[in-house]
Amino acid sequence: MADDLRVAVIGAGRWSQRAHLPGWARCPGVKLAVVCDLNQELARAAAAQFGAEGISADYREVLAREDIDVVDVCTRDEHDPLVFASLEAGKHCLTEKPVAHRAEDVWRAARMASQRGLKTKVGLTFRYAPAIAYMAHLVAEGWCGRPFVFNGYEQNSQWLDPDNPADKRILSVPADDQVGGWDPAEEAITVSSLEGYGAPIIDIGLMLTGAGIRETVGVLRNFVPERRRTNLDHAREPINLDDGDVFIAKFANGALGTIQSSYVTVGNYPGVEARLYGDRGALICRIVEENGEWQRLWGASADQVEFRRLPIPAEFFPPQHQPSHGWEETCYGNLIRSFVEEITSGEDGNQGDFAQGAAVQEVINAVEASHRSRAWTEVRPAPPV
Ligand SMILES: NC(=O)c1ccc[n+]([C@@H]2O[C@H](COP(=O)([O-])OP(=O)(O)OC[C@H]3O[C@@H](n4cnc5c(N)ncnc54)[C@H](O)[C@@H]3O)[C@@H](O)[C@H]2O)c1
Repeated sequence: MADDLRVAVIGAGRWSQRAHLPGWARCPGVKLAVVCDLNQELARAAAAQFGAEGISADYREVLAREDIDVVDVCTRDEHDPLVFASLEAGKHCLTEKPVAHRAEDVWRAARMASQRGLKTKVGLTFRYAPAIAYMAHLVAEGWCGRPFVFNGYEQNSQWLDPDNPADKRILSVPADDQVGGWDPAEEAITVSSLEGYGAPIIDIGLMLTGAGIRETVGVLRNFVPERRRTNLDHAREPINLDDGDVFIAKFANGALGTIQSSYVTVGNYPGVEARLYGDRGALICRIVEENGEWQRLWGASADQVEFRRLPIPAEFFPPQHQPSHGWEETCYGNLIRSFVEEITSGEDGNQGDFAQGAAVQEVINAVEASHRSRAWTEVRPAPPV
């Protein structure tokens, strides 16, 4: 494709400005055509900062434009109406996670994209961290051999303070849809951390072990039982949502996994750790801001069992990368470069697409079902896409 890919970004909020918009603005072969947000001031400021041609308040008007090739959905919640409308309009689509809360809806979106020859991508941020991408490369080259155990964490302490509102939106009037439930029963807990924070590390577990999860048993826990519900509320109230969870996974290739996600566990952002142990070697990667660094990788082998630090080669970093760039823009720089290459190459490859998002959502849905039934639960195998 000789011409630049023309991109519309829907949602110009905090995450869009920290990760998506810098990624598009720095990627060669891309023209940021429009920034769409209900808040026109925000759209205007973002368009000026990141060099977009224009703005819009109406995503339908954007989707109707024939000169838009790619739609990036970065709204806060319920991405599926925008995702389905984008695919319906024949646009390649990147969306923030989750594509939809039920895996069957994500599979439906994956099938729709595949039938229309469209490329898709989910905001599974950390598979694009240079250290994780290099770890995956070493695993594919055989560093670990046959995988035995995967341990994954995504955790930080952003909601340890009960006065930090459970609802991240900055509301000016009370919302119809409220975050979290009132019923204090253990089985009635609302899924929260498992979906928001579990998704990227589940994705990494599936990628590194190279196999699907067949069975799982997990527990969701509400550690901080009372908090402010929204920025408009001053009093704390009981909100039964999952602010921490742990599950065990049996992978189809015989590997075992443990995965833990939480936003009330002390530690810095983004709080990702992935460990893979196999019959030939082991790799440990930490994506955590600590002492001026945010990504580190260590490896050990059966004949050299002391872990040693592994430098990350330059080709695992995105275009125009600077050492001062943080994890948000670096991961999204790689994510967007990968998406643009997948669209423009015309080849079949499409990492972290809606089918992968659906596989991740199947695990989330199964862990939730396991918690509610207090039993080992099968994860449904992938249907044909
Ligand atoms: N992948 C990650 O690591 C990661 C990290 C942070 C946030 N996120 C996700 O990014 C998404 C956005 O989060 P945020 O913190 O930027 O939220 P935000 O509330 O700051 O921004 C969302 C923006 O979307 C706009 N919007 C909502 N509906 C719209 C519509 N129909 N048309 C046009 N604009 C619309 C809002 O006006 C708002 O400006 C969320 O889904 C969040 O979970 C992902």
